[in-house]
Amino acid sequence: MHEANPKPPFNVTRASHAVMTARDLDATQAFYCDLIGFQLSARDKDAIYLRGLEERGHHSLVFRKTSGAPACERVGLRVFTDDDLEAAFDHFKRINLSPAWVEVPYQGRTLHVDDPVGTPLEFCSVMDDLPTNLQRFERYHGASPMRLDHHQIVTYDVQAATDFYLSLGFRLTEYTATDGKEELWGTWLQRKGNPHDVVYVNGRGPALHHCGIAVPEIRDIIQVCDVAGSLGFNKHFERGPGRHGIGNALFVYFRDPDGHRIELFNAHYQAIDINHTPLRWDLSDTRRSQLWGLPAPKKWFYEASNFAGKPLCDPTLKADPVTLEAFLANQF
Ligand SMILES: [Fe+2]
Repeated sequence: MHEANPKPPFNVTRASHAVMTARDLDATQAFYCDLIGFQLSARDKDAIYLRGLEERGHHSLVFRKTSGAPACERVGLRVFTDDDLEAAFDHFKRINLSPAWVEVPYQGRTLHVDDPVGTPLEFCSVMDDLPTNLQRFERYHGASPMRLDHHQIVTYDVQAATDFYLSLGFRLTEYTATDGKEELWGTWLQRKGNPHDVVYVNGRGPALHHCGIAVPEIRDIIQVCDVAGSLGFNKHFERGPGRHGIGNALFVYFRDPDGHRIELFNAHYQAIDINHTPLRWDLSDTRRSQLWGLPAPKKWFYEASNFAGKPLCDPTLKADPVTLEAFLANQF
């Protein structure tokens, strides 16, 4: 049920980048650069390109200007070589998906395809290589974001999504299932050796729930909260700080000026050896999402960024998580 494919058709290395739309690029840049601490790699009249302090790839977050409703356009994954891109194209054709070659600024050869649950994916093996800012400590501020780590995606069919990524060699580190059953509510899947590159959770989708951004130390999570308070970004707080049961991350969530959600986190663990049994969590166990006890507010579970042009489908699994509102109503 949870077996990864040890010989996948091509080699995905990691979650790499995301492309979103924004209504006001100045506001987006202020949020991500002035508050969170991203580095601006490039900006033109149509888009801004951002990267974390250690990242050498040109961008991990791209925001393209829109006059319409903000959305996520693409979730980016890196493959090892361009030969893997060719193999990916052939594989997707073989399983009746519709891959297409595209030109993307600052990237090498790039492949677009929708996964079987409608998530628009973008694969490349290389981007323009920029100087790292890892030891430019004078540039550390806000949360001092290091790199994009993972994407969490809401889907109407977690089992179908999981089967697809397992077939591509992703490995399951942890999962949430309905109590006493093996109905999948959420799966944490990885290629790079930590808890996750992609997470699929049950809900009305497809939609991007958040991008996870690694920060160097736990105190950076407190620091960005203080900076948000002092710069007046208070309304952008959504959840935390807290510690996830799943993945062990110390986290805080913010919503950007267009409502896109980012997670700033620290303290993942290593997940490399092949014989680790995936960790199972009951959906009703509130420690899975917040080890200290308080579950997420309802809007955290039920709001997400739509994928541009992708219709939403209700989930096939009818199973609701415990929300903060319900938890507090029944606390004592
Ligand atoms: Fe996350």
